[in-house]
Amino acid sequence: MTVVVCPGSFDPPTNGHVDVFERCAALFDRVVVAVVANPSKQPLFSIDERVGLVRAVTAHLDGIDVEGFEGLVVEFARSRQATAIVKGVRGPSDFDYEWQMASMNNHLTGIDTVLVPAAPAVSFISASLVREIARLGGAVDTLVPAAVAAALKEKLQ
Ligand code: PNS
Repeated sequence: MTVVVCPGSFDPPTNGHVDVFERCAALFDRVVVAVVANPSKQPLFSIDERVGLVRAVTAHLDGIDVEGFEGLVVEFARSRQATAIVKGVRGPSDFDYEWQMASMNNHLTGIDTVLVPAAPAVSFISASLVREIARLGGAVDTLVPAAVAAALKEKLQ
């Protein structure tokens, strides 16, 4: 059985994240989505809210668990007996960042990272732009699942 960990801040989960979750669910037996408790920036949504939102946007997929975590992703992956870490990449700047993290994580415990290129239709979406557009009153319904758009509306009103 191939278990992978898909870590991220997911503040909030976007259609780009859902694309990666769907492709992971098709490729691997079990996917543990690891929602980082304390991202470097102050998150808009609490850890419990982000875990709840990721659960809502993955409810249509089999073989997905969603958990909050604090600490090193490699230790979380080891505790779940994961074979690999999976990350989405939207383009060259993501690749540079992900390449460094993948190499560091491999150096720490030997775990490999599988990079999934984002589908072109969602490759321009980022959670930070979604937050900014929502804060400024713009429409985000083509960028995030309906449950997330509703949560943003409620949080920012
Ligand atoms: O969605 P993001 O913010 O791009 O996700 C970044 C994340 C959470 C995957 C990364 O910051 C991470 O792995 N954090 C956990 C702490 C850790 O393991 N740091 C060392 C990375 S080499």
